[in-house]
Amino acid sequence: KRKVGILISGRGSNMSALIEAAKQPDYPAEIALVLSNRPEAAGLRHATDAGIATGVISHRDFADKRSFEEAMDERLREAGIDLICLAGFMRLLSPWFVDAWRDRTLNIHPSLLPSFKGLDTHARALAAGVRVHGCTVHIVRAEMDDGPIVAQAAVPVSSQDTAESLAARVLGAEHRLYPHALALIASGRAIVEGERVRVDAEAVLPQMII
Ligand code: GAR
Repeated sequence: KRKVGILISGRGSNMSALIEAAKQPDYPAEIALVLSNRPEAAGLRHATDAGIATGVISHRDFADKRSFEEAMDERLREAGIDLICLAGFMRLLSPWFVDAWRDRTLNIHPSLLPSFKGLDTHARALAAGVRVHGCTVHIVRAEMDDGPIVAQAAVPVSSQDTAESLAARVLGAEHRLYPHALALIASGRAIVEGERVRVDAEAVLPQMII
């Protein structure tokens, strides 16, 4: 099994979805470590309760971004991590870190990329009047919310939606999408080829996940 390290900054509901999925005996990845850059992140408690090793590496404890990221890199290597999953990790990673973990770092973003990179994606989707919204799991590149797409899930947008109701619908899709996308990468059924991901024709895709 591939060993996965999850980086979080807060609630950690996507982290919990990955932990839950990885309990299945045939799941191709094991969650070996959860790191948070914020000591008060609620997700830390959930990870500990699930019996997973956790660590806090607070960016505030370091003189600069480089030494903060070196500390994370070291901890991930010590734990023998093969793949990193960003799950609501709200710091932009430097090019050197992205290169060190090139094609081995996944992120989930709450929009159908390349639309709506950045923050406040749900309010911006409503303002744009889109009828379909969703979430994306992609391979991390140095540019924010950029990189080869592993999988996406679509949700409908209704005229009655608020940013909150839409966020809740997308979050439900995120919790199904991320375990599926990680399994594709960890099992080798999805392979990064340059700036695209090739998915095995036999990989079975759940409805609305494409
Ligand atoms: C999720 O909706 C995730 O897609 C988003 O933050 C939320 C974290 O929730 N990530 C980003 O906006 C990254 N740019 P969680 O901590 O409960 O998983």
